[in-house]
Amino acid sequence: MTEDVQINEGGTLRHLLTLENLSGDLVTEILDRAQNFLSVGDRRTKKLPLLRGRSVFNLFFENSTRTRTTFEIAAKRLSADVVNLNIATSSQSKGESLLDMIDNLVAMQADMFVVRHADSDAAYRIAKHVPKGIHIINAGAGSHSHPTQGLLDAFTIRHFKKDFSGLKIVIIGDILHSRVARSQIHVLKALGVNEIRVAGPKVLVPEVLTEMGVTVYNDVDAAIEGVDVVTTLRLQNERMKASLIPSAQDFYKDYGLTKERLALAHPQAIVMHPGPINRGVEIASDVADGPQSVILRQVTFGIAVRMAVMSLLQD
Ligand code: CP
Repeated sequence: MTEDVQINEGGTLRHLLTLENLSGDLVTEILDRAQNFLSVGDRRTKKLPLLRGRSVFNLFFENSTRTRTTFEIAAKRLSADVVNLNIATSSQSKGESLLDMIDNLVAMQADMFVVRHADSDAAYRIAKHVPKGIHIINAGAGSHSHPTQGLLDAFTIRHFKKDFSGLKIVIIGDILHSRVARSQIHVLKALGVNEIRVAGPKVLVPEVLTEMGVTVYNDVDAAIEGVDVVTTLRLQNERMKASLIPSAQDFYKDYGLTKERLALAHPQAIVMHPGPINRGVEIASDVADGPQSVILRQVTFGIAVRMAVMSLLQD
């Protein structure tokens, strides 16, 4: 649905709204560019001039630690001017519509908007609305998509596993409400991963997910057997219409990633989590902090990936 809006006629990226239908070649171009940016963080002067003089507006209508901050760092490393709009104190509270607000920020000569919103189509509506020359990046849309998270997950997997062919990957937890799971599945399929498993209780991992081309498991021990990559997800209580899980303790007992469960995976398996983590709910502390965990590396890689996306957008 959004492909026509985010891709220019020549196949370049105008906005980044979703990873659905993004080609493997374009994804690889983003990952390769991110690879080139990775070393910028190790320099004494962490700056490139690629977005010098451009104004990037961070519009986070939902809370964020990692995404908002790494977008700000990424924009600043590209020499952009960054405005973090405080939505709680903005005139949205006085009844201003989303698109009226955008018109006013466009009048302030914004060049790029980074948008996180509970509505799945908010970034898409903004992208359809803004004049040519202004670029939109979806920084998390409802339970629908989180494309830069999917890209940084793919970057992390490539960094540690080198090659996507033949990989077995499992995503465990609240898949139903997870934009991270959807974006990770889209990007991994674009990159040619054949064996993607999703695992958790039936209420959070329903059989209908097989329509995404993944294998559904309600037994986590069976799902984790022999995999190369384990992603765990938190319970997204803020998106559940009712309490779907008896208790956090029950969830941990049946589906939590413990050392014992991780031992069923390939001995060199990596453990990923988009954050924020809930210790003792979806993941044990000794796994989150253990030698197979690459959770904090994901955060660092997110800066380079977001630099890559911001610097690629064009008309
Ligand atoms: N992974 C992620 O989106 O984290 P934040 O909600 O802190 O941005």
